Amino acid sequence: MKVGVARETAQGERRVALVPEELGKLKAAGLEVLVEQGAGAGAMIPDQAYADAGATVVDTAGLYGGSDVVLRVQKPSPDEAGKLRKGQVVIGLLSPLLDPTLMQALASAGVTAVSLDAIPRTLSRAQDMDALSSQANTGGYKAVLIAANTYGRYFPLLTTAAGTAKPANVLILGIGVAGLQAIGTARRLGAVVSAYDVRPETAEQAQSLGARFVKLKTAIDATGAGGYARELTAEERAAQQAELNGVIASQDVVITTAQVPGRKPPVLVTADAVRAMRPGSVIVDMAASALGGNCELSVAGETIVTENGVTIVSPENLPASMPSSASQFYARNISKLLLNMVKDGNLNVDFGEEVTKATVITHDGNVVSEAVAKLLNAGGAA
Ligand code: NAI
Repeated sequence: MKVGVARETAQGERRVALVPEELGKLKAAGLEVLVEQGAGAGAMIPDQAYADAGATVVDTAGLYGGSDVVLRVQKPSPDEAGKLRKGQVVIGLLSPLLDPTLMQALASAGVTAVSLDAIPRTLSRAQDMDALSSQANTGGYKAVLIAANTYGRYFPLLTTAAGTAKPANVLILGIGVAGLQAIGTARRLGAVVSAYDVRPETAEQAQSLGARFVKLKTAIDATGAGGYARELTAEERAAQQAELNGVIASQDVVITTAQVPGRKPPVLVTADAVRAMRPGSVIVDMAASALGGNCELSVAGETIVTENGVTIVSPENLPASMPSSASQFYARNISKLLLNMVKDGNLNVDFGEEVTKATVITHDGNVVSEAVAKLLNAGGAA
C-alpha cells in the first residue's frame, strides 16, 4: 500500500503531516511512502531528508495519482478534494463538523475520510493519536511566548542595582490542554499565574502547576460530555462576567483558551473589562477565529492596540508558527492512527474497533459519522 504525504496549501500553514523520523515504522509495516515535492519546506525539512529515509519524492499529480492513502494536516482545498478518487483514503484534521458539505462531497466521490479531530480523547490507548492535544500544547506554549514578547516589562521578579522589576500577573482563562501548557510556560518564565475554568476538576490541575485557581463566588459547574465544557446559560454568563471583570482588571497579561465543542467560543473578556485594564497590558486570544473569540474586541489574525493601550493579539494558527515541533508530534499521532488501521500491509476499516469507528467519517460512498450525517440533514455546520 502506498501512503502519500501531501504538501499543505492553506494560507499560513507550515506544518507537514509526516516527518522522516516516522518513516521507519511505516516501512516496517510494509507500507511505501510517497512525498509531494516541497511538503516539508515550511517545517524546514528538505525533500532529500525524506528520500534519505526511504520515501519517493513525487510531483502533485504523482502524489494524488499514486497514493492509496493521503496524509495531511488540514482538510483538502476544493481543488485537492477534486483530485481524490474512489477507494482512496484521506487522513487529517478535517474539521468534519465545521465543513459537513466537504464530507458529503468526499463520500459521493467514494473517498474514505478519516479525521484526527474525532479521536476518542479519554481513551488511554488513543492518547498517542490525539492530535488535538499535541497541537493545543504547542499553541499554549507559543501563546505565552507571544505575550512575553509583546509585554513591555519583565515576566519574572528581578532585583538589580538599577531597581526591581515586579513579576507579571498572568491570568489563563480555560484550563484544558492549551491552558495547562500556558500555565506551565508562564510559571517557567517567572510570572505570578492564576487560572480559571468552568470545570471544577481543573482547580487541582492548575494548582499542581503552580497557578492560583480563581474561585468565583457564583459557583458554576459546566462540565459537559466527554470531559468538555457545556455552554453556560445566560444567567451563568452574566454572573461569571460580573466577577471575572474585577479579576481581569488587575492582570498584566490575559491568555484565553476557552472553547465549547460545536459552539462559538464564549466571551470571557468583555470590551468593558479591556477598558478597565492598565495601559501596557496584553491579551492573547487563542480562541479567536472567524466565529469570534474569548475577547469581545479580538480580530482574528490581527493585533490591535486599544485606546487605553491594551494590546490584543489574536493568532489564528499558533501550531503552524512552531512548524517543526508541531509536525514532529502530529506525525507521531497520524502514523499511530494509520498503523492502528493497517493489517497485513493493507488498510482494514474495522468499525468494530473503537478508534476506527470514531474517526472514519465517510466510507464506501456514505457519510458514516452520525454527528456529521445529523448536521447534513439539518442543513448546516456546527
Ligand atoms: P477545549 O479546547 O474544548 O476547551 C478549553 C477549556 O476551556 C476547557 O478546559 C473548558 O472547560 C474551558 N471553557 C469552556 N467554556 C468556558 C467558560 N465559559 N469559562 C471558562 N472556561 C471555559 O478543551 P481541550 O483542551 O480540548 O480539553 C477538553 C477535555 O478533554 C478536557 O477535559 C481534557 O482533560 C480532556 N482530555 C483528556 C485527555 C485524556 O484523558 N487523555 C486527553 C486530552 C484531553
